[in-house]
Amino acid sequence: MSTVISPEAVAAAVDNALVAIAAATTVDELKQARTAHVGEASPLGQLNAGMRHVAPEMKAETGKLMGQARASVNQAYAQREGELAQAEETARLMAEAVDVTAVAQRRTVGARHPLNLLMEEMSNIFVGMGWEVAEGPELENEWFNFDALNFDEDHPARAMQDTFFVEPVDRHLLMRTHTSPVQVRSLLSRELPVYVVAPGRVYRTDELDATHTPVFHQMEGIAIDKGLTMAHLKGTLEHLARAMFGDDAKIRLRPNYFPFTEPSAELDIWHPTFRGGARWIEWGGCGMVNPNVLRAAGIDPDEYQGFAFGMGIERTLMFRNDVADMHDMVEGDIRFSQQFGMVV
Ligand code: DAH
Repeated sequence: MSTVISPEAVAAAVDNALVAIAAATTVDELKQARTAHVGEASPLGQLNAGMRHVAPEMKAETGKLMGQARASVNQAYAQREGELAQAEETARLMAEAVDVTAVAQRRTVGARHPLNLLMEEMSNIFVGMGWEVAEGPELENEWFNFDALNFDEDHPARAMQDTFFVEPVDRHLLMRTHTSPVQVRSLLSRELPVYVVAPGRVYRTDELDATHTPVFHQMEGIAIDKGLTMAHLKGTLEHLARAMFGDDAKIRLRPNYFPFTEPSAELDIWHPTFRGGARWIEWGGCGMVNPNVLRAAGIDPDEYQGFAFGMGIERTLMFRNDVADMHDMVEGDIRFSQQFGMVV
């Protein structure tokens, strides 16, 4: 018995296959369409299998029909496969695309605090003159902070409202109110002569406002040698002022009182542009070391004399860099520090 493969049946199978191929939207779907419409179990596959039973006189014609059918389906398949592969490749490239023009996320670079930079700059000026840099504890003994520096028992600076005393009070510990205790510590721990600067943090019970902060910084200096005079003091401070503010910098000493120096002076610096006008600005205190301080350190004041000075670092930064508000120095906003450069 022979089979007749009708051109209509072949055309219908081919049409269905072409529709399925065209409808495939992924390479996977396309493969499924091939199995369903070209595989052995598919209508076209069945028709193909029927070739065996086609009457011999019909074989050539039917074979040609089937060949054309397969060819048109294969061609559509290959074309769709190409399109889908291309689309998938494009989608993959899109997904992996990197926008080289996108603004990069920046990591902020840190900056050292301008107060530290300033203390270092000032220390370096003294190191350049052969001085040493010393440190003392911030939690200090009352004796170093006051007694050894010739403060009277009832000196107002000792009063509770200025000084952070540390409990229990009978241990006589406090947060140092100035860097001057490093004077006596340096004299006790070094051989004479002594030329020392001591930058560091100090504490007073002030409220934080535009010009005060309870924690601030000072730089202390002490020089003890044979035959030192007020002229050495003035020359040293003049050198400091010129090294920091340029050759035109001027300083002046005004009589004042400190328990630990005699005579004592207020140190002023001439500022050509401060807050719009030129004027003298109070910079720190200084004087010839009081003989009682030398005695407290076991030094014979008839043999050795010297001078001392101390100044506020915040104040210095304020008038050197026109910083109007102390808050900027203590709040830790990196944008403030960054303005002073990336010095490391
Ligand atoms: N210790 C003083 C203060 O905190 C500053 C000072 C004045 C330091 C005179 C000195 C000096 O060494 O001789 O106000």
